[in-house]
Amino acid sequence: MSGEGEVPQAIRKLAPGKLVIASHNEGKVREIRALLGPFGIEPVSAAELDLPEPEETGTTFVANAELKALQAADLSGLPALADDSGLCVEAIGNDPGIFSARWAGPTKDFGMAMQLIEDKFAGLPPETGRDAHFVCALALAWPDGHVEWFEGRVDGTLVWPPRGENGFGYDPMFVPNGYDETFGEMEPDAKHAMSHRADAFNQLVAAVL
Ligand code: IMP
Repeated sequence: MSGEGEVPQAIRKLAPGKLVIASHNEGKVREIRALLGPFGIEPVSAAELDLPEPEETGTTFVANAELKALQAADLSGLPALADDSGLCVEAIGNDPGIFSARWAGPTKDFGMAMQLIEDKFAGLPPETGRDAHFVCALALAWPDGHVEWFEGRVDGTLVWPPRGENGFGYDPMFVPNGYDETFGEMEPDAKHAMSHRADAFNQLVAAVL
């Protein structure tokens, strides 16, 4: 929100050329390459450039995405894109939130992470609502320190037990509003068209390309 007397800042456009994807997850890099290739953007992964993975010390999704993007832009001298995402469960203070990956522990056991969420409901009145939402923050940073950020979201309800073998993470316990299937049961293309990540990318494409 701009305060009184402040001049609104124009959104900086991303010129065609190299863009560092500040992620060591090759799957993510492939997905982003497919999304941005048609705009003349040439994604380069952080792993290809041997960039370190910073510690996620932020207290919000946007702050974590920003710190990853800024570090990659600074070290590479190129614009850089980073994301941070997670599941927020409203009845338990929006946990696990930015700690979504960490709740699964070093072995990335999402069966356990989903059980941890369900266990929290066991201590709450039975009528407690099961609303939840996924968030995806994207930060696009330039070597001079300029950042544009976008936050996507999809709302839904948690079910128990988890259902479906598709997707990853918390997908098997999340039913998006207006649907009966969990993200784990849906065809991947259907999920990708409505996800928090799609929402954030649509905003980015509309704003900077
Ligand atoms: P990060 O953004 O790579 O730090 O990962 C965040 C964590 O949030 C993932 O490890 C998943 O646990 C969870 N998460 C983010 N997006 C999704 C999704 O689309 N489905 C299921 N889990 C997700």
